[in-house]
Amino acid sequence: MEQHTRLKERRVEQVVTAHHQREGGGFMVRRPLPTRNLPLMDPFLLVDELGPVTYAPGEAVGAPDHPHRGFETVTYLLQGEMQHKDSVGNHGTLGPGDVQWMTAGGGVVHSEMPTSRLLDEGGVMHGFQIWVNLPAALKMSAPRYQEISRSEIPRGASEDGLAHVSVIAGRALGVEAAIDTHTPIQYQDWTLKPGANVVTEVDPEHNVGIYVFSGIIKAGFDLQRVEAGQFAVLREGSIVRLSVSAEETVEARVLLLAGLPINEPVARYGPFVMNTEQELQQAARDYQSGRMGQIVQEVM
Ligand code: FE2
Repeated sequence: MEQHTRLKERRVEQVVTAHHQREGGGFMVRRPLPTRNLPLMDPFLLVDELGPVTYAPGEAVGAPDHPHRGFETVTYLLQGEMQHKDSVGNHGTLGPGDVQWMTAGGGVVHSEMPTSRLLDEGGVMHGFQIWVNLPAALKMSAPRYQEISRSEIPRGASEDGLAHVSVIAGRALGVEAAIDTHTPIQYQDWTLKPGANVVTEVDPEHNVGIYVFSGIIKAGFDLQRVEAGQFAVLREGSIVRLSVSAEETVEARVLLLAGLPINEPVARYGPFVMNTEQELQQAARDYQSGRMGQIVQEVM
């Protein structure tokens, strides 16, 4: 009986389709979360897929200086190059396969822009930004950055070689991520060839969702079809099944997100995510009065 409970497979409970949204300096994202039918998957506040988009020389756009408070932004690039700068004095460049896990905490002003090379030469940009909420006790904590390069992100594979996973946070197929998270999180990027059929473990207490960004998969105990641009929430159990029919001609790509729900009130407005409306108003005042700082531009 206990064995049965421990190995229970999750079922797809809800499937939502991503909508398109214009962001930052004018780039389009595919956004499965939040949507009208899925405003939150606690602790995940937002999932944005940027691109894939091919920019001509001079065309690439990003998100110029803007603030955040009360949560974390996690950027994962598949193709292209981005550079970031912030009010705390951090700056860096992200390339394909790299991850930046930024804890905004009490407040940071940052910019997320294409590199000058991508701007000058043009090229493909494809990546993800997800927002992870922080519990009340950490909303006003000091900002923190974790930059994890592609080489530091462990990869696992199924025995038949048909499924591969990059483990950005948490663990999967016996490999463990380098990144440290404030609350228990699993963040995985799966590549599933036709005929792949894997199960991966999740904590029964976690909220679990998958975002298919390429191809078609069958997910969960009922092998429910989920296709590119759809996000599925899986309920109840400690195992998630991901499979691709042997008849498919292309591989599928899937992000798996799992996290322990924070179970606190969520008040959100633009770049701020707090517990109450009052705290949101305070965040806006603090930003406007410069208390979140500003990005110091280098003098050329
Ligand atoms: Fe941002």
